Amino acid sequence: MDLVRSERRGAVALLTLNRPDALNALDRATLVALGGRIEEIRGDASVHAVVVTGEGRAFAAGADIAEMKGLTPAEAEEFSRLGHETFAALEALAVPAIAAVNGFALGGGCELACACDWIYASEKARFGQPEVNLGILPGFGGTSRLARRVGIAWAKEIVLTGVTLGADEALRIGLANRVFPAGDLVEAALAVGETVAQKGPLAVAQAKRVLQEGQGVDPRVANALEQNAFGLVFSTHDREEGMAAFLDKRDPEFKGR
Ligand code: COA
Repeated sequence: MDLVRSERRGAVALLTLNRPDALNALDRATLVALGGRIEEIRGDASVHAVVVTGEGRAFAAGADIAEMKGLTPAEAEEFSRLGHETFAALEALAVPAIAAVNGFALGGGCELACACDWIYASEKARFGQPEVNLGILPGFGGTSRLARRVGIAWAKEIVLTGVTLGADEALRIGLANRVFPAGDLVEAALAVGETVAQKGPLAVAQAKRVLQEGQGVDPRVANALEQNAFGLVFSTHDREEGMAAFLDKRDPEFKGR
């Protein structure tokens, strides 16, 4: 059985965590499988966006507690590194990744969602970082990415109290961008992926990179990154085509070069 299923819907790759009996808990094998799927996407220029979701009633209910129980401190650090490397690879994809959070996104599940570029939530979604209930803290980016997304005070309340948030509260604090009825969630995420696929892929990739790298650096550095990327895309065929198509009042045909 594939721990992470990969399907194609046009130019969009749909990755589905597939351990529903364990609420898609992230054990090493699942993280490695996810890493493999991300690597496949990285090498496939025909993929223009990724949607990540979960099979069954969870997105992912966290790192696998049964597997973590016996870890030594050194093994735990190694496990954290594996999660970080996997999620960093997802974040570093040139194409946008959208989390379609269908149910529980707790612990590593919430961290996986935050490693995606934005989050769409089902009305049934539940978000949280409950690690303190287990005597541990987030290990896959929950102290860094969550704080950047929702601000330090909300991140502290979520991480230090272990509170669980529903979809509406996640929406209100900016953790989720939009909320959909459960049956519409994945289609909505695929549709926005398809929208992105219509754009110039080099421009999308540069914009994502600059947005990403501009986080947490001095604004003057971020602005310099933007200036540099702005000049760079003026060397592309897609830029010529996009502007010519606008002036000719027709749809552009982007080639990714
Ligand atoms: N790691 C390993 N197994 C997990 C898991 C996790 N993080 N989360 C759920 N599971 C397993 C359960 O052990 C159970 O397995 P079983 O059927 O073999 O007993 C199965 O998934 C279903 O979970 P269950 O707890 O019975 O479902 P529920 O609807 O009663 O509760 C949750 C759902 C999400 C509230 C509950 O499973 C939970 O609190 N999970 C842990 C969340 C967490 O602390 N995550 C952070 C980890 S660092």
